[in-house]
Amino acid sequence: MTLNRLTGAQTIVAHDPHDEQHHGAVTKPIYQNSLFTFDSYDRFLEALQDEIGTSVYSRGTNPTVTELEHRLAKLEGGEQARCFASGMASISAAILSVVRAGDHIVCINEAYGPAVQFMGNYLTKFDIETTFVDGKDLGAVEAAMRENTRLIYLESPTSLFFSILDIPAIVGIAKRANARTIIDNTWATPCYQRPLEMGVDLVVHSLTKYVSGHSDAIGGTVIGRSELMKPLIKGEFMLLGGIMTPANANLIMRGLRTLPLRMEKYHRQGLEVAAWLEKHPLVAKMNHPGLPSHPQHELATKQMSGSGSLFSFETDIPLETMRRWAERLRYFRIGVSWGGYESLVTVHPVPTNRPGSARTLVRLYIGLESTDELIQDLVQAFEGIEA
Ligand SMILES: Cc1ncc(COP(=O)(O)O)c(C=O)c1O
Repeated sequence: MTLNRLTGAQTIVAHDPHDEQHHGAVTKPIYQNSLFTFDSYDRFLEALQDEIGTSVYSRGTNPTVTELEHRLAKLEGGEQARCFASGMASISAAILSVVRAGDHIVCINEAYGPAVQFMGNYLTKFDIETTFVDGKDLGAVEAAMRENTRLIYLESPTSLFFSILDIPAIVGIAKRANARTIIDNTWATPCYQRPLEMGVDLVVHSLTKYVSGHSDAIGGTVIGRSELMKPLIKGEFMLLGGIMTPANANLIMRGLRTLPLRMEKYHRQGLEVAAWLEKHPLVAKMNHPGLPSHPQHELATKQMSGSGSLFSFETDIPLETMRRWAERLRYFRIGVSWGGYESLVTVHPVPTNRPGSARTLVRLYIGLESTDELIQDLVQAFEGIEA
């Protein structure tokens, strides 16, 4: 019998062999300790020789965090993973591991805001310059490359307008220029998109979102080949120290156990609500790569085997009216982030440099509530503003 990808993923996250060392406990105890001690000085010195592979101090290797890292690496198809205190800690560590003073970065212009600030502003103090390009335009990516370009930073789909990048084509551009690639794979998760198989060097995630899945933990991870992960672990992981705590690793591991299962539901529910919204007369444009009307739907289905449930729509209704609309919603709560059980909404102006800039952008996150009730909620909010 061959297992399909989702079943395989569910087995990776759900199965633990019997563990006699922990009395057969089905979930492992949390190693809630900062340091590890040794019964002889020789064993202590031996452990210090390999602080990365041995438990010496929890800023290095803690078994509870290591367990999560093993599962994430396996799920993403990478050789090694390391977990960080947040998605941003993992993004900044991954970028810093690749670039040095005087280098140049090419970054897509729809990347997550704080990642854009990190590259566009913060890194300038190390004489690292970033060019932001429309990642959908391969010619623009190619044209932005310079002799000192060391990194192309990607996010696909993007998390406000849900654009899709041609990942293998951009990897090709990077490889020809001897540059590395990093991708933020938070939206699709390893259940639906496997960028390492497309040649990307490092994958980063905000584990705060779907992987933890319960809106009760913040975390991040970097996953890749050992050749790239080893220097990152010695450098940015150990020295900058933005590591994940064992308590958070335990919470995120609990979320990971049901990730493939939840992703199937998020995929279905997100598409159902988006397809309903697409027919609504007050919706001018949907931004969901899983809908056949999305201009890059074909590329999306080639690169991803399913969808996340975060998407946006554009409307000609003014911003302030849509803010009142959001307040009328009963099940969608107003707030940032996504990936938990609860549905969320935010309302933004469409930026002036984009088509449809007079419009209002509404980002919806579809949680685990029943879609019938979520759609009824949207109906009553629209009726309220129409009245
Ligand atoms: C796509 C994406 N990447 C990265 C991050 C950063 O993650 P964290 O908030 O865990 O630092 C976020 C957070 O909203 C995000 O939406």
